[in-house]
Amino acid sequence: MAKILSGKELAQKMREEMKAELSELKEKHNLVPALAVVLVGDDPASMSYVKGKEKACAEVGIDVQKYKFDADYEENSLLKLIADLNNNPEVHGILVQLPLPEHIDEEKVLYAIDPEKDVDGFHPINVGRLMIGAPGYVPGTPHGIQKMLSRNGIDISGMHVVILGRSNIVGKPLALLLVQKKEEANATVTICHTGTKNIGEITKLADVLVVAAGRPHTVNADMVKEGAVVIDVGVNRVEDKTKKSGFRLIGDVEFEEVAAKASAISPVPGGVGPMTITMLLHNVIIAARKQRGIKV
Ligand code: GUN
Repeated sequence: MAKILSGKELAQKMREEMKAELSELKEKHNLVPALAVVLVGDDPASMSYVKGKEKACAEVGIDVQKYKFDADYEENSLLKLIADLNNNPEVHGILVQLPLPEHIDEEKVLYAIDPEKDVDGFHPINVGRLMIGAPGYVPGTPHGIQKMLSRNGIDISGMHVVILGRSNIVGKPLALLLVQKKEEANATVTICHTGTKNIGEITKLADVLVVAAGRPHTVNADMVKEGAVVIDVGVNRVEDKTKKSGFRLIGDVEFEEVAAKASAISPVPGGVGPMTITMLLHNVIIAARKQRGIKV
């Protein structure tokens, strides 16, 4: 049976470390990092993610300013708000929860955020920095996956990491991160996507398989090499009448059968999700330190 890579436990540990750092920042520099969170509309998944982020910030001692608007909020108003947040020295990080309603140009909004406050790491400046290995803000999910591997003693240097999914917030940045000639990286990386032929043959070559397809039941045991490490990034809601909410969360991987074959596997929930939020907290702390001129 595989080792369970508990993101929940590791996130807890890392948040304890952050709490200590935040106490010191407050005591020595009178600095409390602040994150502005912008949510437009009432998508249930987005509302739940934002709630999780707010809760995590409160837990470690990061201030949150929440801006919640109806789904018909205008793009111009949103751009004006971002400009104000960019200019506000009391705000160190800005997060606009995605997806945005159809009538708002997501790209325009993300490009409007000051790259030095872009704690999601979605601005092209930060994407470019990641591409060339320069310091910048790395998106939470790929960064969280990297930490989940390294802090569980999984050295990926020289390993073949296969990523299933080519999104701008998981697949592509994860590939850029893990291919770098750096600590916690130096892997051989392959990206598979909906255009890939014979996916199962490629996933079977993976020493580390990261599944970010956004579709339940995407990976079964036949697609996994004996002893592989499997990271499940999927967050899918399936109806479950036994739950108060009426649903439960499952990943993209057939957990039981894959766990019987893998050497380590991350669960859903309690796997990558808590790590994503933890790395967001990390970025907010870095942003606040930099903006105050405190060494990182
Ligand atoms: N929607 C799904 N994941 C994310 C994320 O990491 N950040 C933001 N802002 N929106 C998201």
